[in-house]
Amino acid sequence: MKLRGIALPLVVAGVLATATLALAQHQHGGPDDQSAHMMAEDHRVPVKFPPQLRAHTLINMRDHLLALAQIQDALAAGAYDEAAKIAEQRLGMSSLIAHNAHEAAKYMPQGMQDAGTAMHRGASRFAIELQKTAVSEDLKPALAALAETTQACVACHAGYRLE
Ligand code: HEC
Repeated sequence: MKLRGIALPLVVAGVLATATLALAQHQHGGPDDQSAHMMAEDHRVPVKFPPQLRAHTLINMRDHLLALAQIQDALAAGAYDEAAKIAEQRLGMSSLIAHNAHEAAKYMPQGMQDAGTAMHRGASRFAIELQKTAVSEDLKPALAALAETTQACVACHAGYRLE
């Protein structure tokens, strides 16, 4: 509770500082500032998907984020079965067919495929660890697998973008 009391003003202050900075840049920013911003270097590898697959992939991505939010919500409620089900069906190995993974893999560089595999494996491992949690009452191994899953999201996003 105490932590929350301290953390919230900090977050608010951070948001305000960012907003103030953005406002200042907007007010003083001429065309030069604009182009400097546009030229921020992007080292991600561009990957070309056919338009339909690209659209489908982005829809899946938004569902990935929704799934993570729902998993955390279920964990907070102690609903481990529910969290495991969401992870396995929407992010885990069981989601591969729904995600057109086989089709998409044809267009993906090896590193991108590996990040995808790591995400699916991590999510399935999370679901299995959660089943053990029901007996052991230790959530840590499951949380570690969940972290592994989100690290795969981060790794792929850091390395690749869609053209
Ligand atoms: C194998 C690679 C890969 C993995 C793994 C991956 N993503 Fe993505 N994701 C992408 C790419 C590529 C884009 C498009 C980025 C771009 O072109 O700038 C994207 C975009 C997104 C977007 C934006 C969607 C939109 O409408 O623009 C969200 C949200 C997202 N990912 C969430 C996630 C989450 C959450 C996870 C993990 C649970 C995840 N992604 C795992 C490759 C991946």
